[in-house]
Amino acid sequence: MSLDSLEDIAAYIVSDGKGFLAADESTGTIGKRFDAINTESTADSRRDYRELLFRAEGMKGNIGGVILFDETLRQNAKDGTPIRDLISSTGALPGIKVDKGISPFNDSEEVITGGLEDLDERCAEYQALGAKFTKWRAVIKIGDNMPSQECIDANMQALADYAQIVQNNGMVPMVEPEVLMDGDHSAQTCFEVSENCLKTLFTCLEGNSVNLKGTILKPNMILSGTNAPLQANIQEVAELTVKVLKENVPTDLAGIAFLSGGQSDFLATAHLDAMNKMGDFPWELSFSYGRALQQPALKAWMGQIDNVELAQKAFSHRALMNKLAAKGEWNEDLES
Ligand code: 13P
Repeated sequence: MSLDSLEDIAAYIVSDGKGFLAADESTGTIGKRFDAINTESTADSRRDYRELLFRAEGMKGNIGGVILFDETLRQNAKDGTPIRDLISSTGALPGIKVDKGISPFNDSEEVITGGLEDLDERCAEYQALGAKFTKWRAVIKIGDNMPSQECIDANMQALADYAQIVQNNGMVPMVEPEVLMDGDHSAQTCFEVSENCLKTLFTCLEGNSVNLKGTILKPNMILSGTNAPLQANIQEVAELTVKVLKENVPTDLAGIAFLSGGQSDFLATAHLDAMNKMGDFPWELSFSYGRALQQPALKAWMGQIDNVELAQKAFSHRALMNKLAAKGEWNEDLES
């Protein structure tokens, strides 16, 4: 496949229902996932686990891009094949998480994402290593007196600065303004905060002359807080999410790929499908799931070589279900 421009790369990844596999957990986060299945986290065990995903049948046709952590972009598969070549051989493009995580914002409970200071040099290296796109995640919390406008402004400006640097280095930026599900807020509150973030983000992107045709948005869905007594149902989530996007996202953006953010694998698929059943949109509405694509595979694997096939089956199933959802062709019966 010849993908020469940022526009072509971005459009390819989300074409025909394909989405992203987020396999870019930092060493600390993957360590927690491995703890839950009593598996030691080492460079080799992380490689073995991720390699089993990338070699699964369900990569082909369902996954258009894989987000990697720095370690994995540099690793070889067990047989010596560079992991990035393994990914490319399935038809997916390798990408890289480039933010350096979060730290407190103004000594408050709020957080700001860092990593801009040496981003230009790092991007030049990642591009040379074969990364076609990048990801930067901003985290916005809902709670008492949160979020503040200052925190939203600082995080969205950082996303725009990141996107500009990445495009100057010939890669597609994925901009992720994640409004967390944690809390007891209503879906309406999530809508209002997400709307504020999106409006601010696109103003900042425009201010930096970022090419939206070569940019992917990775947003949260509009959900009730995890501890909210009243939970918005699947149709309500789909309608509120489509509304916030239609009202705040420019039509020339290349594509939208949701994060799963702690939703169950089933709900992450059901919500995406319900949105895509609502009709046609100016952008593809697809997925960029970490937990919602990997959780069943992790549980099936349990760190045991004998379980590799089972884990691959579990992952392949979720990849296919989400592709169908991205086309509005999923239904619950397909899960059994
Ligand atoms: P989740 O789908 O597990 O939220 O992970 C997606 C991701 O890449 C978060 O940055």
